[in-house]
Amino acid sequence: MTEPAATIPELNERLTHARFRSAMPPIHRASTVYLENVDELAARDWRTAAVSAYGRDGTPTTQELENALAELEGARHVHLTPSGLAAFSLACLAFLKAGARIALPSNMYGTGSQSVVTLMARFGVQTCIYEPTLPSSWAQTIPDGTTLVWIEAPGSITMEVPDIEALVRHARSIGALTGIDNTYSAGIHLRPFDLGIDVSLQALTKLQSGGSDVVMGSLSTADDAIHARLLEAHHFLGLCVSPDDAYLILRGLQTLKVRYEHSSRSAQRVADWFHGRKGVHQVMYPPMAESPSSDLWRAYFTAAAGLFSVALHDSVEAETTKIFVNGLKQFRIGYSWGGTSSIVMPYSANHPSVQRLRRLGAPVSSIVRFWVGLDDVPLLLDDLWQAWDAAFATCMSPSTASSGADCQSGSAIGTPSTRA
Ligand SMILES: Cc1ncc(COP(=O)(O)O)c(C=O)c1O
Repeated sequence: MTEPAATIPELNERLTHARFRSAMPPIHRASTVYLENVDELAARDWRTAAVSAYGRDGTPTTQELENALAELEGARHVHLTPSGLAAFSLACLAFLKAGARIALPSNMYGTGSQSVVTLMARFGVQTCIYEPTLPSSWAQTIPDGTTLVWIEAPGSITMEVPDIEALVRHARSIGALTGIDNTYSAGIHLRPFDLGIDVSLQALTKLQSGGSDVVMGSLSTADDAIHARLLEAHHFLGLCVSPDDAYLILRGLQTLKVRYEHSSRSAQRVADWFHGRKGVHQVMYPPMAESPSSDLWRAYFTAAAGLFSVALHDSVEAETTKIFVNGLKQFRIGYSWGGTSSIVMPYSANHPSVQRLRRLGAPVSSIVRFWVGLDDVPLLLDDLWQAWDAAFATCMSPSTASSGADCQSGSAIGTPSTRA
């Protein structure tokens, strides 16, 4: 007589007991999760259940990722979201209501601040903007009655780091919560909860993924009461992530530290290439003394990511910047940093980050941001030489020279390989 076919739960049971020791955990996909009996059903509460009874509330795979992220960052609870931006929306919706105020730093990731001043404003949330580099202004720009003070360290384009402890002290003195965008440190080179921060956001899309092929975010906390607020908002917003994507992030975590270190070392050499170059107003690379708030970065962070920006002097024309960026071959134009390939992103004179620097008195015409991935540094330096020389040579051609443009030619023109 043939055995009756095993049911899926029976197969699951068998697999669990098969002692198959794969290095990586299995991927659990689920919407339906079976409950044992009516008593178990009656006793369940999604707020306290250790194991979810519905795929949207998590699976063993997403839970595994939450645990791994919590351990790395020193959090007690982690909530996964479909993107880094969704993690920010979760923080806003968990803590803010009509009439509440959120304080945003002027150097914040742009889509995040836009989401508050457009979407959250529709629900009556008020915004104030503070300057992270001017602590003496905070008493005025982050007033009493603020509910949430948001921090981004370093700012993702202009790289300033505020005095985080002073900001947390000020927030506490006015009864506000603090949240930090900790994407830059990947949760391994800044310990937000040791600094008294309440919630920490990470765009796992960037460094944790490392493969430029997943979009995901997380919001973590070390505080049980804050966790309860986040859990409720997370549940009722219906936020969840695919277990397959969670698996990819888990895989990325295996190599996170070495990738971080490798990029960091390479970025130092690439950033050095710009240091002191004619046409460059400032290299915004936190370990460099010339970078804004480099001393504060040193006080709080244990390593630099492979991310930095170059502020071009306002005598460098927009066309020169465009030719330079278009001329790069190893650095492709792209937004999402943190992957294995090096990328570049130009920000022109009308971008809020450039306008902000100009308001603060910096003679800057544009910013070019670089992510240095795992490419060979000599190739990257050769690429910079050829694109830079081509841009400045074009700029100094008779047509532009006759217009009086001073393109601040940064180097003699020649073969790149002789200079790397
Ligand atoms: C610093 C920072 N925070 C948050 C985000 C948003 O992440 P995501 O693209 O996953 O929504 C980004 C994305 O560019 C970012 O650079």
